[in-house]
Amino acid sequence: MEVEAPSGGSASHSNWLKVGTTIPVRNVQALASSAADELTLLNADTGEAEGAKFRFACDEWGFFQLVNHGVPDEVIAGVKRDTEKFFQLPLDVKNVYAQRPGDLQGYGQAFVQSDDQKLDWGDLLGLLTQPPQARDMSYWPSQPHTFRNSIEEYSSELMKVADSVVASIAKTLDYDPELMAEKNVVQTFRMSYYPQCSSTPEKVLGFSPHSDGSFLTILLEVNSVQGLQIKWHGAWIPVKPRRDALLVNVGDLLEIMTNGKYKSIEHRVTVNACKGRVSISSFHVPKLDAIIIPIVRIMEEKVLYKKTKVEEYARLYMSNKLDGKRALDHAKISGI
Ligand code: OGA
Ligand code: NI
Repeated sequence: MEVEAPSGGSASHSNWLKVGTTIPVRNVQALASSAADELTLLNADTGEAEGAKFRFACDEWGFFQLVNHGVPDEVIAGVKRDTEKFFQLPLDVKNVYAQRPGDLQGYGQAFVQSDDQKLDWGDLLGLLTQPPQARDMSYWPSQPHTFRNSIEEYSSELMKVADSVVASIAKTLDYDPELMAEKNVVQTFRMSYYPQCSSTPEKVLGFSPHSDGSFLTILLEVNSVQGLQIKWHGAWIPVKPRRDALLVNVGDLLEIMTNGKYKSIEHRVTVNACKGRVSISSFHVPKLDAIIIPIVRIMEEKVLYKKTKVEEYARLYMSNKLDGKRALDHAKISGI
């Protein structure tokens, strides 16, 4: 069989290497492996979580590590201990708190099939933690016996951390602090256990690539097992856990509100061949009936995102009708 040469004749063979570009993964990775540790560390005590470094962390990385965040050591130690203990309980005990149909709270498995046919490998416990009157205690484990108290304390401490981060964000945007405080009203926890996967860790992900549908997320890496990777200039950059830090990231709603200035970065969790990873994500969002309006500073700035109703966005984010797009893409004004 004769194969017709692509137009360009005999010189065309060498053109096969010019038909596309590839992402320079290695170089960026080398550059960023040091940068990921250095650039994103903010000290809440010294006001670093307010100035230029803070702004840079939000718009370049969308992720930063926060140290001296003010959450007492014993509160962190308590929630870490009880989260690990919960996941170690026998399945029938954990299943007392199993997710019920139509509800996203409770204990369940995250065996979700992603586009590239990898399985998400993890167990999770979802809880609505704030405001207190919205809690459904039937999902709150009473084993280990200190669990509820530990969660309660950690939850209210994290509301304070989120309040101060949100206030810093307001400053950088010249935005009314009271209006900004309304962005941190509801808090939900996703406690995750990604078991070790000794046979085929490369075929499995703990959590497929996604950006968070929140306004702000605060992650506690409970047992400091590495696994989280963030997408930066097309490459997956591993984040090294720091025992003294909380990892804060910009969510989709904050990206919309800043008209894309602060980025809700895609991230994923890989599984470790030797050790299970345990984490607690705390998602901070406004009330369901709130509306997020993109802020533009100058008349010439194009509005890139639609006015977004929080409830509609949450439904879209949770639905599987995204046609392969991210929920955030639906919030963008098309044709720009
Ligand atoms: C999430 C998330 C990362 C982790 O819950 O949205 O990205 O390490 N979690 O569990
Ligand atoms: Ni996430």
